[in-house]
Amino acid sequence: MAAATVSVERAASGARNSAALDFLRKPKQLLIGGKWVAAKSGKTFETINPSNEEVLALIAEGDKADVDLAVKAARKAFDEGQWSKIGPHERARYLFKIAELIDKHADELAQLETLDNGKPLTFSSAFDIPAAAETFRYYGGWVTKIYGETNPSDPSFFNYTLREPVGVCGQIIPWNFPLLMAAWKLGPALACGNTVILKPAEQTPLTALRLGELIMEAGVPEGVLNIITGFGPGAGSSIAEHPDIDKVAFTGSTEVGKIILKASAGNLKKVSLELGGKAPNIIFPDADLDQAVPTAMMGVFFNSGQVCCAGTRIFVQREKYGEVVDKLAKFSKNVTMGDPFDQKSTIGPLVSKEQFDRVKGYLEVGKKEGATVSAGGEAGAGKGYFVNPTLFSDVKNEMRIAREEIFGPVGTAISFTDENDAVFQGNNTEYGLSAAVWTRDISRAHKVARSLKAGTVWVNCYNQLDPISPFGGYKQSGFGRELGRYAIDLYTQIKSVWMKL
Ligand code: NAI
Ligand code: MG
Repeated sequence: MAAATVSVERAASGARNSAALDFLRKPKQLLIGGKWVAAKSGKTFETINPSNEEVLALIAEGDKADVDLAVKAARKAFDEGQWSKIGPHERARYLFKIAELIDKHADELAQLETLDNGKPLTFSSAFDIPAAAETFRYYGGWVTKIYGETNPSDPSFFNYTLREPVGVCGQIIPWNFPLLMAAWKLGPALACGNTVILKPAEQTPLTALRLGELIMEAGVPEGVLNIITGFGPGAGSSIAEHPDIDKVAFTGSTEVGKIILKASAGNLKKVSLELGGKAPNIIFPDADLDQAVPTAMMGVFFNSGQVCCAGTRIFVQREKYGEVVDKLAKFSKNVTMGDPFDQKSTIGPLVSKEQFDRVKGYLEVGKKEGATVSAGGEAGAGKGYFVNPTLFSDVKNEMRIAREEIFGPVGTAISFTDENDAVFQGNNTEYGLSAAVWTRDISRAHKVARSLKAGTVWVNCYNQLDPISPFGGYKQSGFGRELGRYAIDLYTQIKSVWMKL
C-alpha cells in the first residue's frame, strides 16, 4: 500500500553503515518454521524513524493466523527434540555463536537500532548491542550448569529432580531497548531448551528481525525461534491467549501486563511480567554531590527517559533542597539533545508520535499541578519527536507527575524531612522496580536499601545492569526475575522422580 512512500535514502539519511542500509531495502517478513514469509493477510505496517518522522520500512503485520502457524512450528520443533534434547555443550555453542554474530555485526545493529528507536548511536554502540551479545554469552554459560538435585529421601527410595524446559514460550517485548530486550528473553529461554515465538514492538521491529537472520545463520534448527511482527491487539493478544503456548514473558506497560495475565488463565500459562516503574532516587545531605547530581540526573534522562527503572522521583532533604535542585537544574540544561547520529547528542527523540504526545501532555499536567519548571519543560521545535530534558521542582509525591510513569526525559524533585520520611515517600507508589540511595554513611545505605520496596536498589550509582544480577519488580512492577540464575527458574520446570530401591 504505502510502498511508494518509503525512501531509505531520506529516512536513514544519518546512517553510514551499508549493511544496515541494505537490510532496510529488503522485505521485512515473519520468521515461521525457519522460513521468512509474508503475513497471511498480506498486510504490512510502517516503522518510522523518530528523528525525522520518515518511513524506514514496511513490516509484515502478523496476526492470529500467523501466530497459529508459528505455534505449530515451535511445538513441532520442541517435540522433535532437536533443540530441547541435544547435549548441553552443543546447545551452549549455538548461544556463543549468536553472541559472536552480534559482535561481528555490531555497527550494523547499532545503526538500525538508532534509526528505529532514536537513541544516540554512541549509546546503542556502547550499551545496547554489546549488552545483547553479553546476555547470549552469559546464558550460553548456563546451558551446562542447569542442575537437578538428589534429595535426602528414605534409604529405600532414590529421589531426584530434573529441570526440564517449559515448552513453547511467547515473548512480547517493548521498544525502549529493542535488541537487548530480545536478548534478555531469548538468551535464557533458548539456553533452557525452549522454543519461542517472539513479538517485537511495532515501533521498533528492525533489530529483532536482523537478529532472527543471525540466529538462523548460527544454525539454530528451524522452528526454535519464530518471529511475529505486528501490533499488540492481534499478534500480541493471540500469543497471550493461545491454548498451546506454555509460558508468556512480557515487558511493557502495567496496563497490558494485566491484560496478559488475564488472558493466560485460559490454559494457565506460566507468566512473567516486567512492567512500569517510578523509582525513588534519594539524595541524602551527606552524599558526594559531584557524583550524585550527574548520575542521578542521567538516571532520569538515559534513553530519553524511556526506561522502566528510570529514577524519576528525586528526593532531596529539605535543608539542602534549594542548593541541590539548582545543581540538578544546571546539569539538566547542559544535556545535549539532538540528532542521534551526532556524537555530541546525549539524548535523541522519543520513539513515536504517541509517546511524544503523551510526554508533552505530562509537561502540561505538571505545570497545572503547580510544579516549578527548573529546566526544559517544552517539546523541541521542528521535525522529530524531541522533548527537552526537563526537571520539575516543588513537586509533591501526590501529584500525577510523581505517581504516573511518564516515560520521557522528565524528572521530579521532591523534598523530605528525614530518613524515615524519605523511605516512606519513596515507597509510597504503586510501583517497585528500582530505587537509589545517595549517601556516604554506610549503615544508612544498608538500612535504606533494606527498607525500599524495589527489585533493585542502587547505592551511589544508577542503572547498573548486568546479566549476572536479577532484575524485576515488587508490587505493580510485575513478578518473576529476569537475568542471573533466576531466569533459569522462569524457563524450566522441575520434575521430581521417585525410584523404589
Ligand atoms: P505496551 O505495553 O502497549 O507495549 C509493549 C508491548 O506489548 C508491545 O510489543 C505491544 O505490541 C504489546 N502489546 C500491546 N497491547 C497488547 C495486548 N493487548 N496483548 C498483548 N500484547 C500487547 O506499551 P506502549 O503502549 O508502547 O507504551 C505505553 C507505556 O507503557 C509507556 O509510556 C510506558 O509507561 C510503559 N512501557 C513500559 C516499558 C517497560 O520497559 N517496562 C516498555 C514500554 C512501555
Ligand atoms: Mg500500548
